[in-house]
Amino acid sequence: MDLSTLTMKDMATVFLVYWVIWFLFGIVIKRFSSKDLPLPPGPYPWPIFGNLFQIKNNLLHVSLAEMAQVHGPLMSLRLGQQILIVGSTSNVALEILKTRDDVLSGRDVSRFIKGEQPNAHNKNLSFTSDCDDRWRLFRNIYRSEIFSNTALEIRTNIRESKVKDMMEYLGSKVDEVIAIRDVAFTTSVNVLGNVCLSIDLLDYEGNGIGDNLRESLGKLDLLGSKPLLANMYPILGQWDIPGWYKQVMHITEQELGSIWKDSIQMKRDKGNVFSSLQDFADTLIHKGFTNQQINPLIQELFAAGTESTTLTIEWMIVELLRNQEAMQKAKDEVRKHINRKVVKESDLVHLPFMEACYKETLRLHPSGPLLIPHKAIEACELMGYTIPKDSLILVNIWAINRDPNFWDDPLRFKPERFVGSKLSYLGNDFDYLPFGSGRRMCPGLALASKIVLLTIVSLIQNFDWFLPNNMNPDDINMDEEVHVAMHKKERLLISLKFRD
Ligand code: HEM
Repeated sequence: MDLSTLTMKDMATVFLVYWVIWFLFGIVIKRFSSKDLPLPPGPYPWPIFGNLFQIKNNLLHVSLAEMAQVHGPLMSLRLGQQILIVGSTSNVALEILKTRDDVLSGRDVSRFIKGEQPNAHNKNLSFTSDCDDRWRLFRNIYRSEIFSNTALEIRTNIRESKVKDMMEYLGSKVDEVIAIRDVAFTTSVNVLGNVCLSIDLLDYEGNGIGDNLRESLGKLDLLGSKPLLANMYPILGQWDIPGWYKQVMHITEQELGSIWKDSIQMKRDKGNVFSSLQDFADTLIHKGFTNQQINPLIQELFAAGTESTTLTIEWMIVELLRNQEAMQKAKDEVRKHINRKVVKESDLVHLPFMEACYKETLRLHPSGPLLIPHKAIEACELMGYTIPKDSLILVNIWAINRDPNFWDDPLRFKPERFVGSKLSYLGNDFDYLPFGSGRRMCPGLALASKIVLLTIVSLIQNFDWFLPNNMNPDDINMDEEVHVAMHKKERLLISLKFRD
């Protein structure tokens, strides 16, 4: 059937008939299975659209937090036919991410991709639908080559030298107005560029072989946040409407793939000489991975690792600018313990207040406010309710991180709350989950934490920061914008002076 020949009226009729059948079928099923546990409570769904139009705020995490006030901490909604389960308190998060992590740790892969393009998924961690052997293989390779303590230790010099490059560049820009997110992005890209391929992909003017990286990742981020029609209406599962898959494939294979294609080919041509100082691509080549297998892995690291660290750096600078008392304490701590310009990672362990500022930034501004959606691999019971197979599971860590039942004065930036506190972001404290918890927890948290802290501490050690035009810090626009990651809507502009 050629969909393009259908008129809007035809489509509306198909939807209506489809919904009526589905609705009646639902009633019959419910009637004959009255022993089944109910779905978690939630707003009454409209025909066809479900609760789509009840999501009022264009920030989904805010809308869901408001709805949870009415419907409870474990809530169910419908987007079309897609069931959405939302957890909004720490005890529900614990049930989802720990007690039932075995079945609630799937990822949502478009029905279209699974049906028509079965080879297009399961190529990296976040696109692997189940935590199966393949997912475990990727996770183990990432851990042994990039994220383990040993792997991180071996590459300390990369992070230190890329942050040093950043400070040198900023030294040439004192008194000018700069968008700190652009500079921080280049640093994160070049750290990962050297971890993966031993090259800088960008210079600080935005030029280099990765000059379209940010734009392409931005497009992916936007596409990743769109509800998929094929999942909302299974009847559409065999079509790629509205060309989502085509666009994703173009970005991943053509735009992003071409950035590192030549570097990988050069490595292959040179012959892969095995040494302990190889980069991630060398290791994958040595293990026999093809270019088609290497591309999605490298791409995932850039997609998950660059914007998340960049936006955390930007939010942390904003919070310090708005909280002069915390800024002064931060300066005192850094400048007391470090007496040279170039900061070393080994200095960071002596800076508990800086660590507290980082944790407080992640509390208020987690880059994944709803984590990355999980999926129920099987139907299961959760806290006395039924969670149907294939439901999407969201954990609103943004709401949990601001829960007044746990956090004192939750909307204020108060790093002191973390000083001397045992609360950690390692996934065991369900009141504070900036990196998630359980099987799908962020594997890059240690790398991210090193990049963010080394950058901020170096900025404090070398410069004093100012807002342009004597702007009052209270006037900084704090609006959020979320695609997959939660950005500051307006980029922060600052100017720097060498410190007194
Ligand atoms: C401050 C920076 C970062 C934050 C706040 C962050 C947070 C998160 C969160 C919340 C998730 C989803 C967890 C879930 O769905 O349960 C995630 C997943 C992931 N993160 Fe990070 N992340 C950061 C940096 C990084 C870095 C630097 C890398 C790698 C270079 C990375 C790689 C990944 C990957 C591969 C996944 C998918 C895991 C899977 O599906 O199994 N992240 N991250």
